[in-house]
Amino acid sequence: MEGLWPWVLILVCLPGLILGAPSASHCTGACGTRFSEDLTPEETQTSWDKDIPAINQGLIPEESPESSFLLEGDILRPSPFRLFSAASSKWPKNGGVVEVPFLLSGKYDKPSRQVILEAFAEFERSTCIRFVAYNGQRDFISIIPMSGCFSSIGRSGGMQVVSLGPSCLQRGPGIVLHELMHVLGFWHEHSRADRDRYIRVNWNEILPGFEMNFIKSRSSNMLVPYDYSSVMHYGRLAFSRRGLPTITPLWATSVHIGQRWNLSSSDIARVLRFYDCSPSGHEPSGKEKKQPKNHFKCQNIKTSFSTLLSSIQQCSKS
Ligand SMILES: *[C@@H]1O[C@H](CO)[C@@H](O)[C@H](O)[C@H]1NC(C)=O
Ligand SMILES: [Zn+2]
Repeated sequence: MEGLWPWVLILVCLPGLILGAPSASHCTGACGTRFSEDLTPEETQTSWDKDIPAINQGLIPEESPESSFLLEGDILRPSPFRLFSAASSKWPKNGGVVEVPFLLSGKYDKPSRQVILEAFAEFERSTCIRFVAYNGQRDFISIIPMSGCFSSIGRSGGMQVVSLGPSCLQRGPGIVLHELMHVLGFWHEHSRADRDRYIRVNWNEILPGFEMNFIKSRSSNMLVPYDYSSVMHYGRLAFSRRGLPTITPLWATSVHIGQRWNLSSSDIARVLRFYDCSPSGHEPSGKEKKQPKNHFKCQNIKTSFSTLLSSIQQCSKS
């Protein structure tokens, strides 16, 4: 627990981090006021049925949404330094699996941790992504309950914040999966470059000032066909100003959009394509494996929370 404190201090200075400030040394009282890292649900009783844009509404200044630290409702603006960085924002693949080291805030209670670990387990079941406990790696995510659900896109380098406040965890792991997909490098489905063929954006129904949350991304998730059931799709009422749809599906008018239950099969497919891997962690087309199988399984014991039990069994078998 004590080991987490330096990170908590740095996190409180998040606005500085976004600008690429290298240290927490300027963190005085004032920089802590912008976020509350508090497990007490600060919202109304109905917060359980809110999706990401509604949960984060309070974090985006209504008078000047364009100056918000969030893009499209839940994406942290990249640091200006990053624009000049040549570093790939993919997480590196090793021996067929992609390890994403994480720190989990000590402020989460047991049910909250459980929801987050469930999301890790879903990635592990269906993809080559392995969320592993932080163990001194250079690049890692720090998951903390600030007020709101947000993340940056891809690997930023060093520590990067994934905020999952209490309201982001109340409906199960769906929002966690969504934010972790951002961490892996994916943008929103409804802002894909080809989205106008699949949805209509009802510009008149969007909260005035929030229209830029519906601008098409330049980089897009176009590794797979457009998917209404993607966990990366926002729902019909995202940023609605009076409760009427802002997003209308064109081809299946009654289809549910904005699901927050699981990774859809196309979400799984795009992870596998983007990282060129298979769920088992074996290279898809018989490329060389860097590590012998048994050795790898035993390594899991030290590093991965979500496979802890099964790894022990596998290890003792071999
Ligand atoms: C996700 O959940 C839905 C609804 O329960 C189910 O129909 C679908 O098959 C699930 N998708 C995957 C990839 O498991
Ligand atoms: Zn998002």
